[in-house]
Amino acid sequence: MRYGHFDDERREYVITRPDTPLPWINYLGSEAYFGIISNTAGGYSFYRDARLRRLTRYRYNNVPFDLGGRYLYLRDAVSGDFWSPSWQPTQSELEDYECRHGMGYSAISSRHDGIEAETLYFVPLAENLEVWRTRVTNKRDAEAKLSLFSAVEFCLWDAWDDQTNFQRNFSTGQVEVEDGVIYHKTEYRERRDHFAYFACSEPLAGFDTQRDTFLGAYKGWDSPAAVERGESFDSVANGWAPCGSHHVELTLAPGESKEIIFVLGYWENPNEAKFDPPGSQTVNKKLVKPVIERYLRSDEAEGAFQRLRDYWSELLGILQVRTPDEHTNRMVNIWNAYQCMVTFNMSRSASFYESGIGRGMGFRDSSQDLLGFVHMVPERARERILDVAATQLPSGGAYHQYQPLTKRGNNDVGSGFNDDPAWLILGVAAYLKETGDISILDEDVTYDNEPGSESSLYEHLQRSLRYTLHRLGPHELPLIGRADWNDCLNLNCFSTTPGESFQTTENKEGGVAESVFIGGLFVLAAEELAQIAERRGHTDEAASYRADGATMDATVREHGWDGEWFRRAYDYFGDVVGSKENEEGQIFIEPQGICVLAGIGVDDGKAKKALDSVASRLACEHGIVLQQPAFSHYYVNLGEISTYPSGYKENAGIFCHTNPWIMIGEAIIGRGDEAFDYYRRINPSAREDISELHRCEPYVYPQMIAGKDAPSFGEAKNSWLSGTAAWNFVAISQWLLGLRAEYDGLRVDPCLPKEWERFEATRKFRGATYRISVSKPKGICKGVAQVTVDGMKTEGNLIAPHPAGAEVVVEVTMG
Ligand code: GLC
Ligand code: GLC
Repeated sequence: MRYGHFDDERREYVITRPDTPLPWINYLGSEAYFGIISNTAGGYSFYRDARLRRLTRYRYNNVPFDLGGRYLYLRDAVSGDFWSPSWQPTQSELEDYECRHGMGYSAISSRHDGIEAETLYFVPLAENLEVWRTRVTNKRDAEAKLSLFSAVEFCLWDAWDDQTNFQRNFSTGQVEVEDGVIYHKTEYRERRDHFAYFACSEPLAGFDTQRDTFLGAYKGWDSPAAVERGESFDSVANGWAPCGSHHVELTLAPGESKEIIFVLGYWENPNEAKFDPPGSQTVNKKLVKPVIERYLRSDEAEGAFQRLRDYWSELLGILQVRTPDEHTNRMVNIWNAYQCMVTFNMSRSASFYESGIGRGMGFRDSSQDLLGFVHMVPERARERILDVAATQLPSGGAYHQYQPLTKRGNNDVGSGFNDDPAWLILGVAAYLKETGDISILDEDVTYDNEPGSESSLYEHLQRSLRYTLHRLGPHELPLIGRADWNDCLNLNCFSTTPGESFQTTENKEGGVAESVFIGGLFVLAAEELAQIAERRGHTDEAASYRADGATMDATVREHGWDGEWFRRAYDYFGDVVGSKENEEGQIFIEPQGICVLAGIGVDDGKAKKALDSVASRLACEHGIVLQQPAFSHYYVNLGEISTYPSGYKENAGIFCHTNPWIMIGEAIIGRGDEAFDYYRRINPSAREDISELHRCEPYVYPQMIAGKDAPSFGEAKNSWLSGTAAWNFVAISQWLLGLRAEYDGLRVDPCLPKEWERFEATRKFRGATYRISVSKPKGICKGVAQVTVDGMKTEGNLIAPHPAGAEVVVEVTMG
């Protein structure tokens, strides 16, 4: 069953009934001001940091779902009937409800009793504000007298404090209302130099800023007192819960439309010009006013919206493909790329599942997000690399997370996830291959943000590799530390205390527990660093990294091979994990993926065997589960992984992030049907028909789909913010379609399903545009027989970079 459909032409997903199984959300904002918005206008906004600069309040895990948002109410002055044109919060009956989630905007429209309303929500590029453009149309035969109310609830900035510190917060709230603009200025009197504002393009009949007056005591957002009676209270908040609501009266002739624009935004004043007049307690509005006035104008709002659309055309134009599979096309061309941008911007902070208060930017997560993002805005990727690297510790280790506002390592979580540093090498390598900009390697970057500690970025990468080499265990495999990629495989934490964090409690002396996964990752990273060293002319170093990689490769084959697949780890006692010797958790997906990706066992059949074992033991109709058999009870020596009920999350859920590693592995050994089949199983568009089971959005990847051991097998959770976005993008575009940026050009090396006969792609790369067509006889999967570039036959399948501006025609024949 579906709840909507794709509109590929407009790059939108169109939701046609409001009661989706879960809120289906979208993101607003591109650089600093962001928001999440659901298909019924739920969600919230923040500036840069979802915890520390939250503008509006949202109630996670509330009933009904998804409360707190960008709400509008329409009220018929004659009948007194009122409704929300976005369905929530009144949940009144609507005709022709539609929510169009697009690239950085959402538009929600509906009709109720002959009154149509459509609201477009978006954040103009380079502005710290959001526009809500509403059009109300009277489709009745008679004149309509209506009231339109807006409503947001302000958050007192720090979203954590806001939900906990009521003894203080009920007394701090402050607003000003001037010329119909509502200014939320809690704590502005003291240390904040920022405030929020909420403005409306029309003359007001009234306003409210005290939530409990607007709603009425014991009443909810579904029936605010002001809306019910058709008149605002003109309340001015002091303490309690400040909100923002405008009241506009509309009289519309039959067929008449009226546009009303609301602008909600964030503003920082220079510290010395906070008040006007100076010395008063009145917010200085001189600087913000022109901005507000600008976006309340219809032509300016429309222009800003067009610029946003053009921006996305430009970004998505960097890679466009036409394949025989519509799900591939729309994910590669539109939604997967979009999701990569969102994960780059948000890391794991704000979604329907991430509360925006708990997690900073992950060192590992952000490094991997780069892989799917770097081709879109390389300058921002560059900046991100330098930010992440600046938090690295002198040992080469890493804080697991850092805070986006301060860009400093997060001490609460700390360090010791021994895979973290290696991902930085992969992220930097992806940037270098895309851009050719090796100057980044010479950038001076601090350690732990400590001034004076700078070394070149290149040295950061060297230390990353050494970090692993200096931490080897009894089998000469890398020590796992607190965890590797799998945050929940905690081999040095034996926790028996309820609620204790598995990631930060390291209550066993490390020094024995080893990770085969990090072994594979090391082999991959060592080869990448060797290539980087070569680009810098350090051939000796390159050779030594390759030697280290070869040694680790041999160690993995010796101590990490179980006979039919790669083992997972050795635990605190030196006992094997992920082996036929184990009763549960005999085979894990992660080492099969990463080892094959690193090339381990490709030459001697181990890779093929490992992938065959994945197919027979882990693959199921909804994707590939993380391990089998699922852990049926808690294992104190394995940690959080065994806390989850079977089939969920790391305990044998389909942890989608890992599936692309297997797709890539299959592509490396040339099995195009298998690779593509795995791709299809978790492709959200291909799962649209089973939306009632899948439940999450059909346009973005979830982190997890419940595995076969779970009662809700096939049900997705944790949509949007996951490494799944970047890795699926890499798998389909670089390994199945086979278009890979390399140091010396663009490699075309597809691995496709046997049935496919051709596909076309346009790829912009270092300023030139490549129009690529690939044809292949039915029946083969891999192998390039001939390549012509602008009609000339070339050697091999690497296309050398052309001058910026060039249009290059590439014809590839497989065979
Ligand atoms: C989450 C984390 C990621 C981790 C994965 C597996 O997605 O964000 O860093 O690798 O879980 O535990
Ligand atoms: C990862 C896992 C999650 C776990 C978390 C701990 O993100 O996906 O299950 O709770 O790590 O920080």
